[in-house]
Amino acid sequence: MGRYTLLAVAVAAIISVGFWWTGDDATDAPSEIVQSRSGGAAMVQVVLPETLSANAKIGQVAFEAKCAVCHGANAAGQDGVAPPLVHKIYEPSHHGDAAFLLAAKNGVRAHHWRFGNMPAVDGVTDGDVKMIVAYVRELQRANGIE
Ligand code: HEC
Repeated sequence: MGRYTLLAVAVAAIISVGFWWTGDDATDAPSEIVQSRSGGAAMVQVVLPETLSANAKIGQVAFEAKCAVCHGANAAGQDGVAPPLVHKIYEPSHHGDAAFLLAAKNGVRAHHWRFGNMPAVDGVTDGDVKMIVAYVRELQRANGIE
């Protein structure tokens, strides 16, 4: 009996060390900072609209598939990777819808920031980009950028 008790204690100790270890790992990143594969922290705090139009919802899916890897979740940008599109620079009067189509098709030569060039994005149609623009505009409006 004594031997089994000892074994149980040893197993419990090993398991709790395991929990302690993973628990420590999990608290590494504060949850309010959105991080992506590239690891850059969000650059702006994006207020999410209460609802998205049907087109914006389609755009969100395309954005998350093709753009968020650089521009971050909710287009909040990523430190060291790419700028937030929810930003006054990208308001409609300064970067109209055509700027988005051109960016996706031809890429962008770095000029507003120091992240380097944006490469052309493969596998997005003009139709996809229109939906992405609808999505980004609704995010912008929810953040007072018109
Ligand atoms: C590989 C990283 C990367 C990806 C993927 C990416 N971008 Fe960019 N994008 C950038 C960077 C970096 C800039 C900033 C260039 C600068 O300095 O002005 C930028 C700038 C832009 C601009 C501003 C263009 C201008 O005229 O100034 C738009 C619009 C844009 N991106 C839209 C998109 C959209 C839409 C997608 C997805 C279809 C996308 N980006 C995917 C990195 C990326």
